[in-house]
Amino acid sequence: MQSDTISSPQRIGVPREIFPGEKRVATVPEAVEKLVKLGFRVAVEAGAGEAANFSDESYSAAGAEIVQDAAALWAESDIVFKTRPPSTEEVALMREGGTLIGFIWPAQNPDLMQQLAAKKATVLAIDCLPRTLSRAQKMDALTSTAGVSGYRAVIEAANAFGRYFNGQITAAGKVPPAKVFIAGAGVAGLAAIGTAASLGAIVRANDTRAEVADQVKSLGGEFVKVDYEEEGSGGGGYAKVMSEGFQAAQRQMYAQQAKDADIIITTALIPGKPAPKLITAEMVQSMKPGSVIVDMAAEQGGNCELTVPGEAVVRHGVTIIGYTDLASRLAKQSSTLYATNLLRLAEELCKAKDGHAVINMEDDAIRGLTVIKDGAITWPAPPLKPATPPATTAKPAAPVAEKKGGHGHGSSGPLPAKTLAIIFAVAAVAFWFIGAYAPAAFLGHFTVFVLACFIGYMVVWNVTPALHTPLMSVTNAISSIIAIGALVQIAPPTAGVNDRPDALIHWLAFAALVLTAVNMFGGFAVTRRMLAMFRK
Ligand code: NAI
Repeated sequence: MQSDTISSPQRIGVPREIFPGEKRVATVPEAVEKLVKLGFRVAVEAGAGEAANFSDESYSAAGAEIVQDAAALWAESDIVFKTRPPSTEEVALMREGGTLIGFIWPAQNPDLMQQLAAKKATVLAIDCLPRTLSRAQKMDALTSTAGVSGYRAVIEAANAFGRYFNGQITAAGKVPPAKVFIAGAGVAGLAAIGTAASLGAIVRANDTRAEVADQVKSLGGEFVKVDYEEEGSGGGGYAKVMSEGFQAAQRQMYAQQAKDADIIITTALIPGKPAPKLITAEMVQSMKPGSVIVDMAAEQGGNCELTVPGEAVVRHGVTIIGYTDLASRLAKQSSTLYATNLLRLAEELCKAKDGHAVINMEDDAIRGLTVIKDGAITWPAPPLKPATPPATTAKPAAPVAEKKGGHGHGSSGPLPAKTLAIIFAVAAVAFWFIGAYAPAAFLGHFTVFVLACFIGYMVVWNVTPALHTPLMSVTNAISSIIAIGALVQIAPPTAGVNDRPDALIHWLAFAALVLTAVNMFGGFAVTRRMLAMFRK
């Protein structure tokens, strides 16, 4: 954000990641095209996307300039996009007063923060995004990375495991499904549950935050509770360190699961704390030979006592995978998602689409991300204001919300009262007209119709919007009242009332009855399942 570059568009530089084994790249050709449309110039170091299967040609075709020399790329870029935090050598290449966007982990990297501050840099740490802001979700690289890692953890487990995941009955014998236990059902854990369940395994999961139980179930897993009452939420969707009593009860439950499970995937983390040790050496020993543990918390010390970070080792016949580069092992996918997160951030920074990023420290999302501003360390950002202020500041929104509620109660602000009076007057005249001139038989049906509309309206309007889908399925089931029509046709004729319908009508009525029964029972069954998702 240099004032001397205001006239010409800023240049975004994307260097090749130099961390050993890192295959990801911070932007992809598809995102380059859109960055160019925002007015930026984009330069990519030669070979930056090679390990993620993006060729230099595809970047140039998208409008990027390919730069051979890393030093030139760093020095001539106003903004640098990176994945891994930069090394000391990379910081030295950075231009003074430049902007850096990528993973920084300020709490773990105080020296790096000092080096960047000395460069008078502006640094946006994507890992510091306030994730609970719904507006910020499109930029949430932690979530996209964790999702890819959770998926890859299951693939690594499947690779090391000597059997199928799904149960099979073949001529050669019966194969039982694999049993997978997931410790920690955050973003990565939920991705692992979905992947393992879709491969056909029996999936169980545990988390200290009870609120994730429904999410586990909706992905096809079973939530296993610890037999100890304690709330595990530490705020902001994250966990807290649990009491000794809880930990003892949890160890007991995990010991049972370890004996039963073929695969354990651990993802448990507590922000700013070492990973909780959940799988002891004895638990590993109690597992069946050939079992697999994938410890996704390896980098933060591991959830398993026997994990070796960065490696796959065999202990007591159990393969323990402690890879710390799971996202990089699916480089094309994670680079694409990460590039989209950074593109969305660029859109937020460059609302004028003039190729100039503006860092608005009044914006909660941008404030949270900005850990260094023009050389001054601004991390940590002040805590987010509680969600109530928007309601008080956004005054124009309030009457709209009131109006909505007002429909249900038949009273509202000045305008609806007037409008309602007119509507009632018109309706009264219309009813008088119908009452005076319509045939008597019509009047009865019409009264029922009007009452049904009124009751239906009142019911739907007073049900919480979240429950509208189950409501739809239950009304669908209730609509099966039309079955009465089919029953009348199928029933034997009452003497003297009507003749027996012919065979075709009889069979059509029978078919209608069968289809209506599906609608009726299916509707109620679906409603039950949906409502179960809302029950604690
Ligand atoms: P994380 O990576 O810090 O933790 C992973 C999981 O481990 C968490 O679910 C945590 O409860 C669990 N855990 C911690 N200690 C444990 C223990 N001793 N035993 C068992 N489980 C334990 O968290 P992650 O995955 O980055 O995010 C966690 C949650 O944050 C999400 O599930 C979501 O609810 C919330 N979140 C909300 C967002 C939003 O509001 N937009 C965005 C991203 C996350």
